[in-house]
Amino acid sequence: MPKVATQMPLSVVALDRRAETPLFRQIYDSLRTAILQQRLAPGFKLPSSRELAVELKVSRNTVTAAFDQLAAEGYLVSRTGAGTFVSDAVPDEFQQPPKSARPPSAAPDETDRELSRRGKIISRTAAIFEYGSRVVRPFNPCLPNIQEFPYRIWARLAARRLNRPNRSLQGYGDPAGYEPLRREIAVYLGAARAVRCEPRQIIIVSGAQQALDLALRLLTDPGDAVWIEEPGNFGTRAAVTAAGARIVPVPVDEEGLDVEAGAALDARARLVCVTPSHQYPLGVTMALKRRIELLKWANRTGSWILEDDYDSEYRYGSRPVASLQGLDARGGRVIYIGTFSKVLSPALRLGYLVVPPPLIDSFTTAKAILDRHSPIFEQMILADFFAEGHFARHIRRMRELYAERRELLKAAVRAAFGETVEIMPSEAGLHLTILLGDKSDDLAIARRAAELGINLEPLSALYTEEKNKKNGLVLGFASFSETEIREGAEKLAAVCREIQSSGVSARP
Ligand SMILES: Cc1ncc(COP(=O)(O)O)c(C=O)c1O
Repeated sequence: MPKVATQMPLSVVALDRRAETPLFRQIYDSLRTAILQQRLAPGFKLPSSRELAVELKVSRNTVTAAFDQLAAEGYLVSRTGAGTFVSDAVPDEFQQPPKSARPPSAAPDETDRELSRRGKIISRTAAIFEYGSRVVRPFNPCLPNIQEFPYRIWARLAARRLNRPNRSLQGYGDPAGYEPLRREIAVYLGAARAVRCEPRQIIIVSGAQQALDLALRLLTDPGDAVWIEEPGNFGTRAAVTAAGARIVPVPVDEEGLDVEAGAALDARARLVCVTPSHQYPLGVTMALKRRIELLKWANRTGSWILEDDYDSEYRYGSRPVASLQGLDARGGRVIYIGTFSKVLSPALRLGYLVVPPPLIDSFTTAKAILDRHSPIFEQMILADFFAEGHFARHIRRMRELYAERRELLKAAVRAAFGETVEIMPSEAGLHLTILLGDKSDDLAIARRAAELGINLEPLSALYTEEKNKKNGLVLGFASFSETEIREGAEKLAAVCREIQSSGVSARP
């Protein structure tokens, strides 16, 4: 049963003052969602518009506009002299328990009728961008340091390309990508990640997300079993679901994906999605014996391994770990995925696949059908960026900066939370995950923190199965100053205390 509040908790209304959505609409959305999810039950008395306006620090007209709209739609009733109440007449069929912490978007049921079976699956797939990954504020875990993007160099390289006519910019390009860039990437991957590949095996795509989507479309049929990490990245789960495949959540422990557990759950899965260099979100590196076990299993069963190597350019303290693809000497079962989202910027929308030679043509055709090819201009600039040595320099510079920020975040978390949380050991990347106890509610914490200007990913949302869920906070550190990190951690610790003492729950 959902918890029903007797006094309206402030966290029911989530306001984002930087969002384009007007504040009255945000209040309306929050209250409507809370009513539909029965967090505000029929007959519940709302605070007066004046009280709510004071608490939310908005004008009374803003609150009144939201109340009026909800009353007009039948969610609220006003009784003169008594106040405003949640209507008893909200039809039962609308009162679904929440499927996620995200308020439902406009009338999915109406559009659903128009959609194909595939379209319905896609539209019901959990949103990838659920926790505000677009907003640059502490502790968004998805972003590199955007201030440190090499703007001046990029502008110079772009200007040089534009200052003379360029045949490559005058028509369509190769669907597999701009050849000089593919050559640069192949050299880089061989040296830095021990990936075995020739340039022709590299297919340039619009980020890791498109790589996952393409691979799943090409290599699985609806109903096929696909192992994903439990917990794992939202985007991966969304792509597997959208492909119509059957998700098999495989536990991750301190050695990474538990291959034996996966085989016990579904020994003949068609494909496995894995982040061996730096597991997302727990941060562990897959142990060598597990890597070998996984490769042996895939070679035996003829299954595919999608190796998502999204952020391993940044390793701290230890030497880079070689890729799984590089270990797969004879099998050709690994499809390696890389992205420039963490090294440079997610706004570029550039990433790549390294596919075994027999799959090159199929992936190239699929990419052409999807969007012909990724933008040539950005690929050219990036190729020049590599060729002039800027890529390697940028990684070296950022690694130092990130190592510092990472230590700052660890210290800030320790200072704010004491020993009440566990910081997951992690050697790489741009985020840290902290584990909260069973009594915490990371969804409610994320929601309340968002109202206070703090973004994070609640760990429990990254699990597929309810029984496996652990509470925790996935925190990015790359883009934020020392003060932002320290103050952010203090605010976050205060939010955790507030949620724990209020007993508010965002759980279904
Ligand atoms: C596990 C994982 N893979 C890949 C990505 C990057 O996706 P893209 O390259 O589409 O931006 C992310 C982004 O946060 C991620 O967490």
